Amino acid sequence: MLDVNIDIQRLETELHRLALMSDCPEPPPAVTRVVFTATDLQARKYLASLYADAGLVVRVDGIGNTFARWLGSQPDAAAIGTGSHIDAIPHAGMYDGTVGVLGGLEAIRALKRSGFQPRRSIELLMFTAEEPTRFGIGCSGSRALSGALSAAQLGELIDEAGDTYDVVRQRAGFAGSLDALRLPNDYYHAWLELHIEQGPELERLGTDIGIVAAIAAPASLVFAVQGEGGHAGAVLMPMRRDALCAAAEMISMIELQAQSSHSRDLVATVGFLEVHPGAVNSIPSHVRFTLDIRDIDAGGRDQVLATIRREVTAIAQRRNVELQIECKNSDPPATANPQIVNAIEQACQESKASQQKMISRAYHDSLFMARIAPIGMIFIPCRNGVSHRPDEYSSPEQIKTGVEVLARSLASLSMS
Ligand code: HGY
Ligand code: MN
Ligand code: MN
Repeated sequence: MLDVNIDIQRLETELHRLALMSDCPEPPPAVTRVVFTATDLQARKYLASLYADAGLVVRVDGIGNTFARWLGSQPDAAAIGTGSHIDAIPHAGMYDGTVGVLGGLEAIRALKRSGFQPRRSIELLMFTAEEPTRFGIGCSGSRALSGALSAAQLGELIDEAGDTYDVVRQRAGFAGSLDALRLPNDYYHAWLELHIEQGPELERLGTDIGIVAAIAAPASLVFAVQGEGGHAGAVLMPMRRDALCAAAEMISMIELQAQSSHSRDLVATVGFLEVHPGAVNSIPSHVRFTLDIRDIDAGGRDQVLATIRREVTAIAQRRNVELQIECKNSDPPATANPQIVNAIEQACQESKASQQKMISRAYHDSLFMARIAPIGMIFIPCRNGVSHRPDEYSSPEQIKTGVEVLARSLASLSMS
């Protein structure tokens, strides 16, 4: 059995050092790190220095997906991939994504220290832009690698400043054709991602490791409601076509549809609302809001979505406002590969870690890597199940166990 020793002090130091690279007005552990910002580029530079120290062969693609490879004894064989993301939504925590990137690096370093020599290369991949913050769609990096987004679709994504993805990525110093991003289907023999659970189950049950059996199917849409503005004092109620009141009725109906759904896995969230002109004494003329809706069963999700579309259209007609709905993404779920699940189970046994199978309700880059490779995910508990908040936390012991299980899984898969 492999003698794997995780240097958790070093890993914790690196996680906290990375957390300092943030645009959040609050100090760490609050983190904001949006793709292609100066802070994101600073963090990438820091990671590149760590990859060089670890003796990995690094390449960066045209949008910043970063591949750091430990060459195996059979370098031409399809590699084993692992990794995650380092971008963070505003006012987030310091463990979402970073545990999979820095933990993946420490897993490789620990295997090197143990004297292990992989047959297949082991490659650490840091994805560009897992979060939808800047361009309104999540996982743009892994979507590009897996062909879920074409070069044309990717290049046209627009940020809030009205700049395209293509312009912003070039301004950030990434060059090369967007057509060259797509990885071949046999690029990885197996893909593994270590991530915090972002839910309460592991902690509640006192389990060390979650072995992900499936990743929920996410869809996100933007609703634009156009009413008629006017003076808050002068326009009497029967004359109004208030865009915000219409949106409020739509949003309450969306919540009701999700709450009354037959599926306990169906979740719907309106996380963004913009009101124009946004003055205390002016009737809202235009409102934009987003809907993030997910379920393990894509068919069930789409049925609820069809009902929502029908109901919001009826509300718009009754209130005499215009409504436009734009679907940003609507993705299928992904299931884990049984051989990879077995490798993780075996690794848990060797690490004396308790484990359970579970669903990932958050989406991850692995959802898209599943289109071009067999996948597996390893979850570690996070305190009170909290994530996307500054108080997101996994303990050094929990992280150490996750990284050790990852290291053992990578080692066994690299010999398969
Ligand atoms: O929203 C998600 O599920 C992921 O954390 N971006
Ligand atoms: Mn996230
Ligand atoms: Mn994440």
